[in-house]
Amino acid sequence: MDSPTSELRDIELESLSDSEVYKLLSIAVQPRPIAWVSTVGTDGVDNLAPFSFFNVASRTPPTLMFSIGERIGHPGRAKDTLINIEATGEFVVNIPARDHARAVTVSHETVESDIDEFVLASVEKRDSTKVRPKAVANALVSLECTLLQTLPIGTDTVVFGSVVAATVRGDAVDERLYSDPDAGLWLARLAGPYYSAVVGGVHQDAEGSEPRGADR
Ligand SMILES: Cc1cc2nc3c(=O)[nH]c(=O)nc-3n(C[C@H](O)[C@H](O)[C@H](O)COP(=O)(O)O)c2cc1C
Repeated sequence: MDSPTSELRDIELESLSDSEVYKLLSIAVQPRPIAWVSTVGTDGVDNLAPFSFFNVASRTPPTLMFSIGERIGHPGRAKDTLINIEATGEFVVNIPARDHARAVTVSHETVESDIDEFVLASVEKRDSTKVRPKAVANALVSLECTLLQTLPIGTDTVVFGSVVAATVRGDAVDERLYSDPDAGLWLARLAGPYYSAVVGGVHQDAEGSEPRGADR
């Protein structure tokens, strides 16, 4: 087989199935940060699930956004995370560390709403400071949110949350609110079944693409 070249190739979106378009988007937009979202149901059961269609929506006031698709295997039905957020108006965005990769994967399983996914994924929880949903005890950062707005777009629903409290891990964020890009703590999502570990920062003024930590 010929090896791939850098020649440009237009893709007719109309010729692709919905799942192929999804594949293309998740290749184009990578690596993605991961919101490990904790919520609580009206029955009091804690829920935890990862979402990589996630980013900052506004810095002032501090606002996050992430997108929730339909329940896997049940088109037209909502995922527990959205049901809980709409019912309680609260959630916590936990940022997983590199060594959480396996637990993040386990917590993505679609299970009945009475299953506590912290327990399922063996993730330690702690009380949050201002909202009812629990936080991941050793997340790099936990951002407690109240629901600002939901915006349905096609099959997915974008959730906007106002950040009302923050907790950081001492080895991830220092007293001056700096984070060492070479510490290797951060985890990101790539297309398909892959994660990426952030293992070395490239300074924005660097001539080449040599990671800052390459000579350590
Ligand atoms: C790393 C990772 C990222 C994910 N990102 C998304 C996402 O952005 N949107 C989405 O709807 N599902 C995403 N999923 C799938 C959900 O986590 C999964 O459907 C989860 O079971 C939803 O759980 P819930 O029903 O408890 O809300 C992702 C899964 C993984 C492993």
